[in-house]
Amino acid sequence: MPAYHLTTFGCQMNEHDSERMKGMLESLGYREATSRDQADLILFNTCSIREKADDRFIAHLQEARALKRRSPDTVIGVGGCWAQSVKHEVFTRFPYVDVAFGPGQVHKLAEFLTSDSLTAQGYFAFEGFTGDLPAKRAREFQAWVQISVGCNMSCSYCIVPSTRGREVSRDPAVLIAEIEALAADGVSEVTLLGQNVNSYGRDLAPERRLSFSELLTAVDHVSGIERIRYTSPHPKDMREDVILAHAELSAVCEHIHLPLQSGSSAVLKRMRRTYTRERYLDRVALIREHVPDCALTTDIIVGFPGETDADFRETLEVVEEVGYDGAFTFIYSPRRETEAAAMGEQVPHEVKVARMEQLVEVVQRRAQERAQRFVGRTLEVLIEGHSRTDPSRLRGRSRHNKVVNFDGLGSPGETVPVTITGASSQTLTGQMSLVARAGRS
Ligand code: SAH
Ligand code: SF4
Ligand code: F3S
Repeated sequence: MPAYHLTTFGCQMNEHDSERMKGMLESLGYREATSRDQADLILFNTCSIREKADDRFIAHLQEARALKRRSPDTVIGVGGCWAQSVKHEVFTRFPYVDVAFGPGQVHKLAEFLTSDSLTAQGYFAFEGFTGDLPAKRAREFQAWVQISVGCNMSCSYCIVPSTRGREVSRDPAVLIAEIEALAADGVSEVTLLGQNVNSYGRDLAPERRLSFSELLTAVDHVSGIERIRYTSPHPKDMREDVILAHAELSAVCEHIHLPLQSGSSAVLKRMRRTYTRERYLDRVALIREHVPDCALTTDIIVGFPGETDADFRETLEVVEEVGYDGAFTFIYSPRRETEAAAMGEQVPHEVKVARMEQLVEVVQRRAQERAQRFVGRTLEVLIEGHSRTDPSRLRGRSRHNKVVNFDGLGSPGETVPVTITGASSQTLTGQMSLVARAGRS
């Protein structure tokens, strides 16, 4: 049996594409190797969102080259966003790569591997969603469901529209059938994936069209699905119907990841985010009105070209005011062929780093303060495994997407009531409560 080794970089889309690659390879008779040097097929699913992502991947690729020198029959494959962004240049820069393919061409890997001549080839056309490949899930009770591919926005800093193509929504009937099959296979939590999930459906023919909130309703009706999450929504498309879905549909979790990027309307304009600071804060107010306990998380970029001290202070103010439950913070990284990379007034690296440190301090303090609201409450926790720091304890997630480490008994996939006794900016700690049933809190 030939063996493969797959390394995944980047976001949940890539994680999910990798699950699909693994499922496909195993259906072709490959098994997963425990290390790269045991593999006949060395694969990389790449990301190009920031320069660091590129650098990390290239270091790994050098290691694969050394292995191929020792065993020349080893096949090296490179998929994902980096491959898409450089296309055939992959082969000129790294001639030992055998096959390269973009995120829209995952299924082409099978064609390549089953063809008679394995001469180097690249596959980079955008085809929308690529085939119903079997997925090998990391946990049997959780699944990702890709509801759309691509992105129609043109955020000036972002490489994704050029690596994933135009937005294409998948047919709702196909999606619901996929989720029903997952539920029948033991899945109780689904995460709907898309670059801009709440613009879902706009490209579908009128007779098949569902809006994102209608899709949430349909998924909520699937028996066995107890938790629905999604990522990422765009603030411009965060309408009241989607917010109400969190209040009204029992499976839709009390957590929204609402990417801010910057708290300055001037910077948001140059980022081409299509909302202002006021409109963003108005969305937050609407969420807090309908779903007061909703956890909010976000993405923020510091050091976008032309960001002044005053712009940055506005970002700090929004973080202070909203009080996020958590945030991913990034230093702006110029990406090839994006509009922002060509802008003047690039912010010096030391200034970016200093702003990042200041931002992280405020994010963590506010997250820690917000987390105190859970202390003393009993939350529904879906067990994922053992605590990473103390294997005698269990680890799971609340509906708010908070990691909870606790004392108790249970198996992965079970939902148990946990009384929260402590809270830091990142995690909650608690004790499984044996008598109380978990409330929807
Ligand atoms: N479609 C998602 C984001 C995908 S990329 C959305 O719009 O929310 C994930 C995050 O990476 C972005 O939200 C942004 O904060 C960050 N990011 C994207 N391009 C970047 C760049 N060039 N430099 C730094 N951070 C970037
Ligand atoms: Fe990138 Fe903007 Fe599309 Fe998100 S919405 S993937 S940040 S272009
Ligand atoms: Fe994701 Fe990275 Fe591509 S964040 S969409 S894998 S560039």
